[in-house]
Amino acid sequence: MLIMQNRVALVTGAATGIGEGIARLFASMGAKVILLDRDAAHNEATARSIDGARAVTVDVCDGEAVDTAVRNVGRVDVLVNNAGIFPRRKFIDMTEAEWDQMQNVNLKSMFHCIKAVAPGMIAQGSGKIVNISSVTFHLGTSELSHYVASKGGVIGLTRSLAREFGEHNVHVNCITPGAINTESEKNFVNDEAVRFMVSQQCLKRRIVPLDIARAALFLASDLSDGLTGQTLNVDGGWVMH
Ligand SMILES: NC(=O)c1ccc[n+]([C@@H]2O[C@H](COP(=O)([O-])OP(=O)(O)OC[C@H]3O[C@@H](n4cnc5c(N)ncnc54)[C@H](O)[C@@H]3O)[C@@H](O)[C@H]2O)c1
Repeated sequence: MLIMQNRVALVTGAATGIGEGIARLFASMGAKVILLDRDAAHNEATARSIDGARAVTVDVCDGEAVDTAVRNVGRVDVLVNNAGIFPRRKFIDMTEAEWDQMQNVNLKSMFHCIKAVAPGMIAQGSGKIVNISSVTFHLGTSELSHYVASKGGVIGLTRSLAREFGEHNVHVNCITPGAINTESEKNFVNDEAVRFMVSQQCLKRRIVPLDIARAALFLASDLSDGLTGQTLNVDGGWVMH
C-alpha cells in the first residue's frame, strides 16, 4: 500500500534540492503534491516531471499570497516548511537588512504557511507539519549567526505548536539536515570543506536530499502517529543529539 495515498502535501521551496527530493518521494508514495516556490521556471519544470504534481509560484514571505495559494488548494493534509536561504556573513559585517531577510525567509515564512493551513487541519482533526531546521543549530556554526538563530527559532516554533495543536491531532515535527549534497551547497562550500564534513560523520558518504525526504516521509505519514514536537537529526551521524 502507498502510505501517502489520498494525502495532499504542500512542500515549500520544492523547485530544487531538499524540497524537490521530498516532493518526489511523497508523490511516489501516492501523495498529491503541491510545489510552492518563488522560482516559477524551475518550479514548473520540476512539477512537470512529477506525476500529478502542481506548481504554485509564491514567495513564502508574502502572507497574503501564501493564504490565497492555500485557499486555492483546499484540503491540506501535510505541510513541509522547507524554503530557506543560507548566505554566509560574519556577524560583525552583517547589516540589519541581512538579519531581517534571513528571519523572514527561514522563520517568519513558517508563520505565514502554518497560519494558512492550521485552521483547516484543526477543523478536519488531522494534519502533519514538518519544519526544516538545520544541524548548524546544534553546531553553532560561525558566519551563520543569522541563519543559526532562524533555525533555532524553527525548533522552538515546532515545540510550542506541537503543544497547541496536539489536542486537534495535528502533529508538528522538525528535521535538522546535516551537510546535504545539493546544487546550492556548491555556492557556499568547497571540496575541502565537504571532505572535512564527511570525515566528521559516522557514515562516510554524502547525505543526499533523499535521506531527508525519507525522514520527512516518516514524519508526514501514519508511521509517526505517536510522535510530535520532536527534532530528527539527519546528518550521517555528525552530531549526536
Ligand atoms: N543543503 C544543506 O546542506 C542544508 C543543510 C541543513 C538545512 N538545510 C535547509 O534545507 C532547506 C532546503 O535547502 P536546499 O539545500 O535544498 O536549498 P536550495 O537552495 O536548493 O532550495 C531552496 C528552494 O527554496 C526556494 N526559496 C527560497 N526562498 C524562497 C521564498 N522566499 N519563497 C519561496 N521559495 C523560496 C528557492 O527558490 C529554492 O528552490 C533550507 O531551509 C535549508 O536551510 C539545507
